[in-house]
Order: sequence, then C-alpha cells, then structure tokens
Amino acid sequence: MVIVPSLKETARRFKESFGDGVTIDGPLASSGAGLRIEGLDLAENLNPQQVECLIDTLAYYRIICIPNQTQPRFDLNHLERFANHWGAPIPHPSNFLRDGKPAQGDWASEGELQFIPLEERAIQSVNKTFPGQLQVLDHTSPAVLIVSNFRGTLDTKTPKPTKVLRVARGGSWHTDIEYEPEPLTVSMFLVHKMPINRESPSRTWVHDPELVEPHIGPYFEGSSELLMKRRKNLPLNGETAFVDTAAAYDALDKKQQQILDRTHVRRRLNTGDTGWLAPLVRTHPRSEIKSLHSPIWASRPRVRPPIEIDGMNAQDSRLFLDEIETHILKSEFRYDHIHQTGDVTIWDNHMTLHNSPPMQINIKSIADARLLYRISVKGTPSLTLPREDHPDWLAKHVTNSYKTDNELLTNQ
Ligand SMILES: [Fe+2]
Repeated sequence: MVIVPSLKETARRFKESFGDGVTIDGPLASSGAGLRIEGLDLAENLNPQQVECLIDTLAYYRIICIPNQTQPRFDLNHLERFANHWGAPIPHPSNFLRDGKPAQGDWASEGELQFIPLEERAIQSVNKTFPGQLQVLDHTSPAVLIVSNFRGTLDTKTPKPTKVLRVARGGSWHTDIEYEPEPLTVSMFLVHKMPINRESPSRTWVHDPELVEPHIGPYFEGSSELLMKRRKNLPLNGETAFVDTAAAYDALDKKQQQILDRTHVRRRLNTGDTGWLAPLVRTHPRSEIKSLHSPIWASRPRVRPPIEIDGMNAQDSRLFLDEIETHILKSEFRYDHIHQTGDVTIWDNHMTLHNSPPMQINIKSIADARLLYRISVKGTPSLTLPREDHPDWLAKHVTNSYKTDNELLTNQ
C-alpha cells in the first residue's frame, strides 16, 4: 500500500527546500488529488533539491497549482525552462505541418515536417481580437500551445461578417497526446486571463448547452444514458475538468484491479494500422501509485480510431471501456479546477484525465476572454538543466528531436 506524505510533511519539505514563505493548501479535490503551493518564484532557477521536491509532490498529489507567476517577471521562456525539469518539451502538433497537412490529423505520415512560422500561427488571429488590450505573451517556441476562445477580429474597419457569439460544447475526456507509443507524462498551463462575466440565466459564465439542446457530440452514438450524463457534467465558469484515475483505480476491488493490471490496449494512429499495445494501468516510478492511463474507448472521436482491448473484438472493447469510463467519471473522482491569472497548474497525464469546459466563442467583450498557454513533456524528469536526453530517444519520440534552446535555459 502506498503511503502518501501528509500535508504537514509536504509543507515541511517545501519550507526546507524553498524557505519559510511557502504555504500549502489542499487537497483541492475530494479524491485527495491537488495541492496549491504558494510562495514559489518560478522565474528563478531551481536547484536540484527544489526540483525533486516538486516532482515528488506531483507523483503523490497528481495536480499541483503554483499561483502568482505573473508578467512581466514570469514569461513563457521561464515556463519552458521550468517544463524542462519535468521532461522533454514536445512541439505541439498545432505548430507544425506534415506533408503540408495539419500534423494533429496525420501523425502516421512520413512526410516532410515543417514548423509553421510565427506569423502564420493562431497567435496572429488571437492578437487581432483585442488589439492593444490583450496580446499573447511573446514567444517563438513550437512547444507553446495557445488555448483561447477568441480568434477573430473586432476591427470595425474590416468589412468581414461578424461571427455570432455562441456557447461551444465541452470536449471529450482525454489525456494529452495519449496516442503516441511514448505518451506524454506531464502537462502544464500558465493562466493569462479568465472570463469574469456571470450573466447567463444560471448566473454562470455560460448556460449549460446540454440543458438548452441535448446533443450527442463530440461523442459517438450508442453509449448509455448514465455515461453520457456523467461525460456532459462539465463546469460552467471556464474551469478545467479533471478526473483522478489513481483514486478511481484505488476504489476498485482487488479482483477488478488484478484484471485491469493484466489488461493491454491496442492504440493506433490511424484506422487500419497495426498499432501497438500499451498497459492500461501504470505505476508511477516515484510514488508507485497505480492509475488508469486514458481508459477511454474513443477519447478523440473522428480524429484517432477507438482503442481496443487486447484479446477482445471492437464491440466488447467498447463495452469494457465504457464501463470503466462510467466508473471513473463518478463525482467522487471528479475535480473542476478554477484558474486564476498567474497560476502555473501542472498535472500528471498518467494519473488524470481532463476535459475542456463549454465556453463562449466569437466573443465581443474582453470580460469573456479565456487565454492560457500549455507546454507538455515526455520522458523522465531532470534535476539539472540542460537535459541530457539520448539523441536516439529524442529522434524516436520527440518531433524533429526538438530541444529547448540552451540560451533560454541558462540566460535568464
Ligand atoms: Fe488536453
């Protein structure tokens, strides 16, 4: 049985590593996941003791939030340097093309890879929405994913038809880039701006779109009503919805755990591929906590093929996985994380799932703007920088063998 370090013990370790100014609040989730750690300055270089303290804490608590990393002191270069401690940052597929096609939809292609120049990335349309008021933080790195609910112009001089403000439904439950042979380990958000309007009929930022017009999307038809209800139960103030798959695994009886421990899933990049087998249960190498890694039949409907359980046909695989999804989406394993400007929120992708909430898009008011930056990593943590990933490993698992510029790691 895993003994999780108590809050008191964790706080003692942080004070020893970072000084007496650190305070710890948590757990944030009723499942026991999540800590808020105040009093850290991530613009500073971290020493190995500090890095290890953070990495161990995530290994036990699955999600950690470090507030008050605000501009101009803290920028996206600091975030990428910090990310390097957790693993090798990966260029996000929205920032490059393969064979001239969007990379997210065509990973199997051996075609030529081309990074999208900054002037053609989504950043440009985001920046045109509220000129002079809200601009994406400066960066050039292809590892930065911009997460925003606005990508248009409000310039009245431009004779373009105005898009209609509407509420977009939440996404599907997933972990980030689970579909590669070497899946991501850790992702992190830096929060720039969150919506503050609460003018919907339910006094939330958005009115639940499922109440207005129940809808199956983005899911495939054919899941049980209970599962659909749990999937669609999403926060309405722009929070990120999480599931704690370590707590969900822990709540199963021994026999169920033993079955899942032996279960492998076949993942494929594209329909018709042979694919490869991946364990459904992973054991964290530091905490030895067991968790379910992306136990979702179709976490990216119409983008990646549904997964299959090794030894089962497609239909039985769906039934098996839908049962697990119904279990993990129970309220006791759910946690809606409220974002605040300046938060750096880090989550373990092997021990959690998450989902984007319903949100207003084509917004006209800056009070409705939701803007975050994400960097994700894979591989093992590194207490010191620069990282020393083996070139063969990088070539195999990180697009274009991307590495953060050494200058960014040492020159701040
Ligand atoms: Fe995601």
